[in-house]
Amino acid sequence: MKILAEAHASASDPLLAVLCFEGEKPQLPSGVSVPARALEDFRGRFRQVLLCYPEGRTKVERVVLVGLGKREKVTAEEARRVSALALSVAKDRGARRFGIVVPPRLLEELEAEVAGRALAEGIGLGAYKFDKHKGSLNGGAGNGNGSTLPERATLYARGAEFERGVEHGVRNADAANFARELGDTPGNYATPTALAAAAKKLAGGRISVRVLEEKDMAKHGMGALLGVAQGSAEDAKLILLHYKPKRRAKEKIAVVGKGLTFDTGGISIKPAASMDEMKYDMCGGAAVLGLFHALREMDLPLEVIGLVPSTENMPGGKAYKPGDVLKACNGTTIEVLNTDAEGRLILCDAIAYAEKTYEPDVMVDLATLTGAVVVALGHEMTGVFGNDDATRDAVCDAGNRAGERCWPLPLWDVHKDQVKSEVADLKNINSPKDGGGSIAGAAFLAHFVRKAKWVHMDIAGTAWGGRERDYLHASGASGMGVRTLVQFLIDRAERQ
Ligand code: BES
Ligand code: MN
Ligand code: ZN
Repeated sequence: MKILAEAHASASDPLLAVLCFEGEKPQLPSGVSVPARALEDFRGRFRQVLLCYPEGRTKVERVVLVGLGKREKVTAEEARRVSALALSVAKDRGARRFGIVVPPRLLEELEAEVAGRALAEGIGLGAYKFDKHKGSLNGGAGNGNGSTLPERATLYARGAEFERGVEHGVRNADAANFARELGDTPGNYATPTALAAAAKKLAGGRISVRVLEEKDMAKHGMGALLGVAQGSAEDAKLILLHYKPKRRAKEKIAVVGKGLTFDTGGISIKPAASMDEMKYDMCGGAAVLGLFHALREMDLPLEVIGLVPSTENMPGGKAYKPGDVLKACNGTTIEVLNTDAEGRLILCDAIAYAEKTYEPDVMVDLATLTGAVVVALGHEMTGVFGNDDATRDAVCDAGNRAGERCWPLPLWDVHKDQVKSEVADLKNINSPKDGGGSIAGAAFLAHFVRKAKWVHMDIAGTAWGGRERDYLHASGASGMGVRTLVQFLIDRAERQ
C-alpha cells in the first residue's frame, strides 16, 4: 500500500475519513456535504466512527467521521490510533483508495512533523498482517481472512514538515513490519540461518553484512554462545551489520539483539503451556534488523554496528547442562545454573566481541530476557537498565516519544555481586532469595561491558502480547524497539 501526503483535500477519493476533535465541526473539503443528522450524531469522542453518505454530486461515495477526542489531550498515540481506525473502515468497505482529512489544529497541537509521522505509522502498522501460512481453508493461498488492503492512502494536510513526517512514519512502519514478520514467523522457518539470510538482504549502499559461523565463533573463543548452541541441530550464527556514514561519524553506536529463534529452556525445560510463544525469543534481534531496514533510507552521521547472536535453545544428548562452566570470548568463565537463562549467555559473547572489535561509544541491547519483567511492568512498557543514567534516560525518552513506552529500572553494584560464582567468575542466575530476576539478567550483562555507555532493554513483555491498539493487534509481534532505536539515533545525531 502506498501512503502519500497531499496539501489539498481532493474530493475524489471514494472513501474519505475526516478527523475531528471533540466538540468541533468536521471540516469537509469543498463540494462535499453530509446529512445534517450525521453531524448531529457525531460528537468527536476519541475513536468515535460515523459512516455516512455524502449528498449531492461528488465522487466521494462514503465519508467517515473519526473522533480525535479532546483537543487539549491529544497525543501522537491518538493520531496513530485514529488513522489505523480509518484504514480498518476502508478495508471493511473494500475501498481501493481512501483519504484522511487532517485538521490543521492537529498539526499545531503535536507539531506538523510528529502528526504526519504518527498518522502514517498508524496506517502502515495497521496494514500489517501475518497470513502467509493460511491456505485453502480460507479460499486461497495467503488469502487471510478476506478483507483486502486499499492500494493507496492519502493524508491531506499542508506543509513540508508534515510531508517529512509522513515519509518518516512510512519508513518506521515498514521497518517495524519487517521486524514483526520475522517475529511472527514460526521457529521452523525463522531459523538462525533464515535470520542471517534476511540480514544479508539488507546489505547494499552504506550497509555491509557479515555472518560469523560456528567455526569462527570457536576461533574467537565464544564459548557461552556456542554452549547454548550445542544442543541444537541448527547452525548458530552471529550476524554483524555495519552502517558507515558518508560524512565523518559523530559517534559509534553498537546495537545488540537477542536472536534466540526458539527457547525450549533446554535441559531446564519450560512447561508446555504457551511454550509456542518462545518463537518470539528473537524479537530483540528482529528489532536490530528492523533498525537497519530503516537506516537504508536515512542519512545519519553515525557509525552503527548491529550484532545479532542467533541460535536455538534445545534439550538433547548434546545440550549444555546445569553445572557446566562456559568461557566467553573475553575470558570470563560462567557457571550455568539454569539452561533457561540462555539469552544472557548468547548476548554476553556478542557484547564482549563488540567491545573489543569496535570500541563503541554507546551500546544498546534489546532482549526478551526475563519473564520477571512482565511481572514487574506488564505488557505496556519496556524495562530499561544501564551503566549511565543519562544515556538510559535518553533511550527511555526516545521510546516514549516514538510511542514505545519505556521505564527505567535500577542496576547497582549489589546486583552485579549477586551473579558472582563460587566455581567460576560468574553464574548465569542469581539466588532465588535475591529476587529481582530482571535486574539479575541486566547485572550479568553489565559484567561484559568495558568502556561503552550501555543500555539494556528487556522487551520480554512488549515484543508481543500487549493490548489491542488499533494499529497493533493483541496477537503477534509488535516490532518493539525499532521506532525507539530510530528515534534514539536521530537524537544522537542531532546532539551537540
Ligand atoms: N526467553 C525467556 C524469557 C521470557 C519468558 C520472555 C517469558 C517472555 C516470556 C528467557 O530465556 C528465560 O527463559 N528467562 C528465564 C530466566 C530465569 C531462568 C532466571 C525466566 O524468565 O524464567
Ligand atoms: Mn530461556
Ligand atoms: Zn530466552
